Amino acid sequence: MGNDRERNVALEHKVEPLQDRFGRVARKLRVSVTDRCNFRCDFCMPVKPVWLPKSEILTYEEIARIARILARMGVTKIRLSGGEPLMRRDLDILVAMLREIPEVRTIAMTTNGFYLAEMAERLKRAGLDSVTVSLHSLKPERYDEVVGRKGVFERVMEGLKVAQEVGLNPVKVNVVMLRGCNDDEISDFVELARKSNLTVRFIEYMPFDGRKFWRPELLVPGEEVVRTIESVHPLVPMPREQGSTARVYRFADGIGGEIGIITSMTSPFCGDCDRIRLTADGKIVPCMFSRDEYDVKSLLRSGATDEEIASFIRDAFYRKFAGVESLLREHKTIAYVRPMYQLGG
Ligand code: 5AD
Ligand code: SF4
Repeated sequence: MGNDRERNVALEHKVEPLQDRFGRVARKLRVSVTDRCNFRCDFCMPVKPVWLPKSEILTYEEIARIARILARMGVTKIRLSGGEPLMRRDLDILVAMLREIPEVRTIAMTTNGFYLAEMAERLKRAGLDSVTVSLHSLKPERYDEVVGRKGVFERVMEGLKVAQEVGLNPVKVNVVMLRGCNDDEISDFVELARKSNLTVRFIEYMPFDGRKFWRPELLVPGEEVVRTIESVHPLVPMPREQGSTARVYRFADGIGGEIGIITSMTSPFCGDCDRIRLTADGKIVPCMFSRDEYDVKSLLRSGATDEEIASFIRDAFYRKFAGVESLLREHKTIAYVRPMYQLGG
């Protein structure tokens, strides 16, 4: 503890926000806590994933230290992801460590839902606020096919229910839209949002290769999803929150949860992006669509001070990639970058 206090004192002079060369400020940290996953989603996992060696993966103490340093520089929201974050044992211990950081207002997690029913209560008690579950089909056999695992649909649905029961809020569902696969299920997902108060977010398929290879024909534009929904249920757009990746709507009749449309491909929000990422093996990744990464783990493990780490991250973030908008404007294809399972969305 004494040590922590000394570090905090040292950092008190370094409170200018993390800012890149375009003036974008980092407020949200996404931490991939592991690259391991027990699913093999079509659009995410390669046939033969290569796992990181255990010794390369950050410990909870290391993650919490970086989070503390970032919180001092203006980060107020942390999202835990993977791989599958609940593949890591006792994730609630990490949540509790992050909860102790006074500047951190929100702790969220993105999960495949497999371990959610059994972990939700512990996570909530440790201080987790909200959860997002990836759920790409409501048809059990199709779901199994997409995630590459048999017989898990009911278990994930149960996880969603328990998450709501223990008071995680909001509980959101992520649906990656794939042409010819689940684009006939938009109305089923809408009914789910209406009857269960879940927020359902339709996500455009991004060019990360898994077992399936990305092709432009597989993309279902968010605009099309909105039109399909509106032909049955009129929607009311909510004001866009700064830095938000989603366009959020409520149903005009006031029934049910919200709908989110994530147009990462057709209308990306890079201009006010406020995210910074930390990979499981300790790389700072300022933007998921750029290959730039900065090895903060080596610095951590070589005995650097918080000040040194803070200034390393500051320099890394300063050089953040302008964003995919510029590429789209120049009609360049977006090169795949690193696999999604090593990044966590
Ligand atoms: N395009 C869009 N979303 C993806 N995800 C995984 N791979 C892709 C992709 N290629 C989603 C996951 C999860 C979130 C972290 O990102 O399904 O919901
Ligand atoms: Fe942010 Fe990069 Fe995504 Fe654009 S592409 S929203 S800059 S992470």
